[in-house]
Amino acid sequence: MSALAKREAVKATDQPWDKAATGWNDHTRIIRDWLRDATRMMLDAAQLKPGARVLDVAAGAGDQTLDIARRVGENGYVLATDISTRILELAQHNARAEGFSQIEAHVADAQSLGLEAGHFDAAVCRLGLMFCNDPLAALTGARAALKRGGRFSALVFSGPQNNPCLTITMRTALNHAGLSSQSPSPFTPGTLMSLGKPGLLAQLLRDAGFAEITVQPIAAPFRLPTSRHYIDFLRSAAAPVIELLSALSELEKRSAWDDLEAQLNVFTTPSGWVGPNELLLATATA
Ligand SMILES: C[S@@+](CC[C@H](N)C(=O)[O-])C[C@H]1O[C@@H](n2cnc3c(N)ncnc32)[C@H](O)[C@@H]1O
Repeated sequence: MSALAKREAVKATDQPWDKAATGWNDHTRIIRDWLRDATRMMLDAAQLKPGARVLDVAAGAGDQTLDIARRVGENGYVLATDISTRILELAQHNARAEGFSQIEAHVADAQSLGLEAGHFDAAVCRLGLMFCNDPLAALTGARAALKRGGRFSALVFSGPQNNPCLTITMRTALNHAGLSSQSPSPFTPGTLMSLGKPGLLAQLLRDAGFAEITVQPIAAPFRLPTSRHYIDFLRSAAAPVIELLSALSELEKRSAWDDLEAQLNVFTTPSGWVGPNELLLATATA
């Protein structure tokens, strides 16, 4: 194995999202249904025009990247970045399968993008910013990559009071992992709801130098036939939960998932399972 291949191999097993990459990609259809309206609002806010150059931060398997490519057209350009080599390989595969030659991929930590300054007309980040321990560094980097007047928009989870589904999931996973006594704050940097702290995201955008800042809540309920379908999604695609349960035996894991499924049944309705979720849509100008 070459030195480069070895380094890539280390990176590829290093990131929690490498382990969830295939699961996230395999669930694209239900993720797309879940985030359809929020994604449209995020891309509308980025004011994408044909021919625009767009930075997609924490692009994952590239579902929203493909939407961006459709909006900017063949004369546009999309740079999909992500810290996980494995998930970005899937984004590249998906872009090729759809015939998009205007999409490129670049493995990079959002907190140190290392991109040429003033290069992009717009930057977006769908459900990635909250995983940064230093979101200010990520926002500062995104702003630096934008042309003056360029648009930024991002989606993150809001706080625990409006995300009971996530709260139950994380509390149950912590319990089974034997970590409940540590009871970390839901706003701990780098965690799912870290940017849901009231006022925090707007303040970070101001600190990063953005103007014309708005932050608005968006309801994004997860609609599936049963809680079992949501568990199937979490088991393969939810890196933070997979990571928490990773040290358990197979028996202990099964017990954790069964417990979680039973608790999440509280969201079963006569017309299926509806997990309440709330996101924040942040928009700003560089
Ligand atoms: C919930 S997934 C969202 C992926 C995609 N944006 C979507 O909405 O389908 C979170 C993504 O954030 C990426 N991520 C987490 N921390 C990151 C960081 N520090 N820098 C860049 N990407 C990061 C993960 O690798 C993962 O692909």
